[in-house]
Amino acid sequence: MKIGSKDIMQSKTALVTGASSGIGEATAERLAMAGYKVYGTSRRAAKANQRSFELLPLDVTSSESVETTVKEVLRLEGRIDLLVNNAGFGIAPAAAEESSIEQARSIFETNFFGIVRMTRAVVPHMRRQRAGRIINIGSVLGFLPMPYAALYAATKHAVEGYSESLDHELRTRGIRVSVIEPAYTKTQFDANFVEPDSKLDEYREIRASLGKTLTEVMAAADDPGIVADVVLKAACAARPKLRYTAGVRAGRLRLLRRFAPAGLVDTGIRKDLRLDS
Ligand SMILES: NC(=O)c1ccc[n+]([C@@H]2O[C@H](COP(=O)([O-])OP(=O)(O)OC[C@H]3O[C@@H](n4cnc5c(N)ncnc54)[C@H](OP(=O)(O)O)[C@@H]3O)[C@@H](O)[C@H]2O)c1
Repeated sequence: MKIGSKDIMQSKTALVTGASSGIGEATAERLAMAGYKVYGTSRRAAKANQRSFELLPLDVTSSESVETTVKEVLRLEGRIDLLVNNAGFGIAPAAAEESSIEQARSIFETNFFGIVRMTRAVVPHMRRQRAGRIINIGSVLGFLPMPYAALYAATKHAVEGYSESLDHELRTRGIRVSVIEPAYTKTQFDANFVEPDSKLDEYREIRASLGKTLTEVMAAADDPGIVADVVLKAACAARPKLRYTAGVRAGRLRLLRRFAPAGLVDTGIRKDLRLDS
């Protein structure tokens, strides 16, 4: 059987959070093309149907909103076979101490607790079905550090730990969990950066230089379709892996993390970001 063949997917329902742009939108489109009945979500009201999938309102930071959206998909389709937890955002490059505790909580509310809320809402139904897939959009920053993006990297490390543990819990109940690990991907991600809320003069220069570097890197970043293809591959795999890198750069970084001595990785990161000059 061909991966993504419409016949296999005919009766499958997918819910993709954060599908108004970028990786979520590309993923929702790819899954729809493969034959899934796809419900994407956005915090903003959906425009008249210009997409190949339905767009439902959802804010993953609100338990009420999560419950309402999951109930709506179940009312419409009676089942959810695939949950793609994609909604997330970053903070513009800044020192860890330039974000207040409130800002630190807020990035966790979306990038980590958003996944926890969605998972808690969907898993009871998947358990009843005795089948389901949960795919979390992580990042290479879930296994590598990122100076001046410490809080974002912390949320993605949390996603890795949660996903791996959850996969062990749910495996015998017919549910599998995977994490997709993209590197830089050309989306609205950097345009949607939240500014650090406690800026310090001490870091003005490094903020400016890292901001410039990031703009250059993002301009040459991977297409979100690369990530969408990997999500589809994980969703269709008979025996899904826990982790999938997406794109050449992410694959290289995973190999580096796995096989290179820690000291070499440490030096490489400092050199790459010119932290000692
Ligand atoms: N771009 C990269 O370089 C990169 C690399 C690795 C991992 N990632 C991860 O990929 C995922 C998607 O990011 P992207 O690059 O595609 O960025 P993007 O274009 O900014 O898309 C982010 C999506 O998340 C949604 N979203 C944000 N906050 C939300 C909330 N509270 N509730 C519901 N939806 C929310 C947005 O929807 P609305 O604004 O319409 O609500 C939007 O659809 C994120 O988890 C990100 O961390 C990105």
